[in-house]
Amino acid sequence: MSNVVVLGSGIVGLYTVWSLITEAKVKPSKIVVIGEHLPGDLSINYTSPWAGGNFSCISPNDADTLSFDKFTYTNVAKIQKVLGGPSCGLDMKPSTEFWDEYPGDAKINSLKGYLKDFKVVPSSELPAGTAFGITFTTWNFNCPLFLANFRTYLEKTGVSFRRQKLTHISQAYLPHTVAVFNCTGIGAFSLSGVKDSKVYPTRGQVLVVKAPHIQENRMRWGADYATYIIPRPNSGGKLILGGFLQKDNWTGDTFEEETKDIIKRTTELMPKILDQPLEILAVAAGLRPSRHGGVRIEAEKVEEKLLIHNYGASGYGYQAGLGMGHKAVQLFQTTGKVSAKL
Ligand SMILES: Cc1cc2nc3c(=O)[nH]c(=O)nc-3n(C[C@H](O)[C@H](O)[C@H](O)COP(=O)(O)OP(=O)(O)OC[C@H]3O[C@@H](n4cnc5c(N)ncnc54)[C@H](O)[C@@H]3O)c2cc1C
Ligand SMILES: *[C@@H]1O[C@H](CO)[C@@H](O)[C@H](O)[C@H]1NC(C)=O
Ligand SMILES: *[C@@H]1O[C@H](CO)[C@@H](O)[C@H](O)[C@H]1NC(C)=O
Ligand SMILES: *[C@@H]1O[C@H](CO)[C@@H](O)[C@H](O)[C@H]1NC(C)=O
Ligand SMILES: *[C@@H]1O[C@H](CO)[C@@H](O)[C@H](O)[C@H]1NC(C)=O
Repeated sequence: MSNVVVLGSGIVGLYTVWSLITEAKVKPSKIVVIGEHLPGDLSINYTSPWAGGNFSCISPNDADTLSFDKFTYTNVAKIQKVLGGPSCGLDMKPSTEFWDEYPGDAKINSLKGYLKDFKVVPSSELPAGTAFGITFTTWNFNCPLFLANFRTYLEKTGVSFRRQKLTHISQAYLPHTVAVFNCTGIGAFSLSGVKDSKVYPTRGQVLVVKAPHIQENRMRWGADYATYIIPRPNSGGKLILGGFLQKDNWTGDTFEEETKDIIKRTTELMPKILDQPLEILAVAAGLRPSRHGGVRIEAEKVEEKLLIHNYGASGYGYQAGLGMGHKAVQLFQTTGKVSAKL
């Protein structure tokens, strides 16, 4: 019997399941996750496996997103622990971020309050063209590995996973369902029922290269570009190089000029990448599920049942998603007052 359906098996769906079990104390055997794509799959319509997996400063400056980041940063160790420690695909590494323009006090003051080893880079050490920089210790995800291990763990506790593509929202309501969590990412744009035209893709292209000698993150944020270098934990020395932030571009194809541009920008930012011959293992593109107005975490009643939306994580599903799951589950508890029945 599935009392709670989580539609979507990306990182946001899995974090939501975790919050349901640990916070609302829903029995795992009462939860079913439905997804057209499940961990292990690769598709342009499934964003989670494509992420670089750093915790960085991409999130907007609004108070909600800053609090989701903080919640995730300070609570995700609990998930790492039950999944068996750093080898699950989640580890901590040093990180440096530079901005061409000062990102604003709201963000910096928030980050200063919780990031481990937070330091401002002295202005004499800033690369040419940048205005501000920080160093800290960050979470690094090996996204495909972490998703797979997270699913295996949840299945062991009793959660079931079902592969199914829904063509209408009503199909998510199984006979005993009291609530559906809508964690459909970019799928929220096209699924009929209540198509959300505020959802749009922000395309990224990344390279996966072999570079075991690089064990730290480095990013540079410009007004309309992002350059980043992210080691993938427990991957045999893989390094992610990126990237692009292209609004409203739906293509999953990759482009040679973009590959060249990524190599140019990342090796300028960190010349020691070239201390070993550059071996490109893969070139990939992904669509960040962005939304005008930010993430949507809202509850509504549909035919006496509760529908809780939790999508629009754009470029920060890994780093903010646990906070999103937490808020969605709070809505479930307060709006639904149904958890007692489960
Ligand atoms: C290049 C790139 C780099 C990134 N780097 C980072 C990073 O470093 N850090 C970070 O935090 N974030 C990063 N992101 C963003 C992150 O990947 C996303 O925020 C996150 O994956 C979104 O997860 P999601 O669960 O909302 O969506 P998805 O992973 O897309 O999952 C959606 C789920 O819903 C299902 N679904 C949708 N519609 C239907 C339907 N009609 N029927 C059935 N199932 C359906 C899908 O099959 C899937 O299971 C990056 C993204 C890209 C593209
Ligand atoms: C991705 O989803 C869109 C919208 O539903 C669909 O038109 C497209 O065929 C899908 N692409 C793949 C590769 O599944
Ligand atoms: C680094 O982090 C930001 C958000 O956390 C993300 O959007 C960006 O794409 C990441 N880099 C890679 C290579 O994924
Ligand atoms: C999820 O939300 C989107 C946007 O409102 C909508 O198109 C879709 O039907 C919803 N899915 C479910 C299962 O409620
Ligand atoms: C999408 O991005 C690619 C690569 O940058 C570009 O060639 C293409 O023209 C873009 N498409 C649209 C519709 O913007």
